[in-house]
Amino acid sequence: MSHDSLRDRIDTSKPHSARFWNYFVGGKDNYEVDREIGDQIKSIFPGLVDVAVTSRRFLGRAVAYLAGEQGVRQFLDVGTGLPTADNTHEVAQRVAPDARIVYVDNDPIVLAHANALLTSTPEGRTAYLDADLYDPDAVLKAAAGTLDLSRPVGLMILNTLGHVAEYERARELVRQLMAGLPAGSHLVISDSTATSEGMIAASQAYNASGAVPYYVRPVEEIAGFFEGLELVEPGVVRVPEWRPEGGGGAGAAVDAYCGVGRKP
Ligand SMILES: C[S@@+](CC[C@H](N)C(=O)[O-])C[C@H]1O[C@@H](n2cnc3c(N)ncnc32)[C@H](O)[C@@H]1O
Repeated sequence: MSHDSLRDRIDTSKPHSARFWNYFVGGKDNYEVDREIGDQIKSIFPGLVDVAVTSRRFLGRAVAYLAGEQGVRQFLDVGTGLPTADNTHEVAQRVAPDARIVYVDNDPIVLAHANALLTSTPEGRTAYLDADLYDPDAVLKAAAGTLDLSRPVGLMILNTLGHVAEYERARELVRQLMAGLPAGSHLVISDSTATSEGMIAASQAYNASGAVPYYVRPVEEIAGFFEGLELVEPGVVRVPEWRPEGGGGAGAAVDAYCGVGRKP
């Protein structure tokens, strides 16, 4: 796609979650409309900044765990978001330079910045797919151009499933993606949870902004995504509490939960 037609696809009239999230982690790839709702939400519920920041740290710990302790060499990162520090391939390839990573997002702004995700080591590979979570078959088919889907894959879906309003639909999409991956593959999820009045108010404000809505779920529903998988210790926990660096104690009471499950 030419640079001009890609630019035409970027809608700056309403907020977009990739850009809004980028603003929350201190990035520069966002527009006035994203910063406006971002500032409004920061004033209603400053805790959403902690969710964004601690979720990225969880991504780092989960990928290092899978590449290190579990020997996973392939990752499929769906709902990638805008590049920031320590993207999945950077973490994975620090542990295993031959790791292969496929990134998937449907936002044109992420496509426009995808070059920053394509900085693979010579031994490994990275690819970017302009594709949709709602079409798992197409995602798997295209991912197979880079990943060997007969070998274990770490499927990462971080802070993205809340875009799928119906819980059963979200579960089905996760099931369909996992069904295309072999035993020994892992599912990594984190998501905001309806665990405080502030988070619920933030979600309502975001959804009133004209952006594609984001629904915050009860913790049991996050746990339900792992049905049929072997949950890695410590299970489904608040994001800062998942294998904290140095094994240290409980983190802040962030309104987001995460987990890692292994396909038996
Ligand atoms: C809140 S951001 C999370 C980014 C990143 N995973 C993180 O945790 O920092 C949600 C991302 O999901 C992407 N997304 C939303 N709906 C999608 C869909 N149907 N297919 C692919 N990506 C989608 C958005 O474009 C955005 O980049």
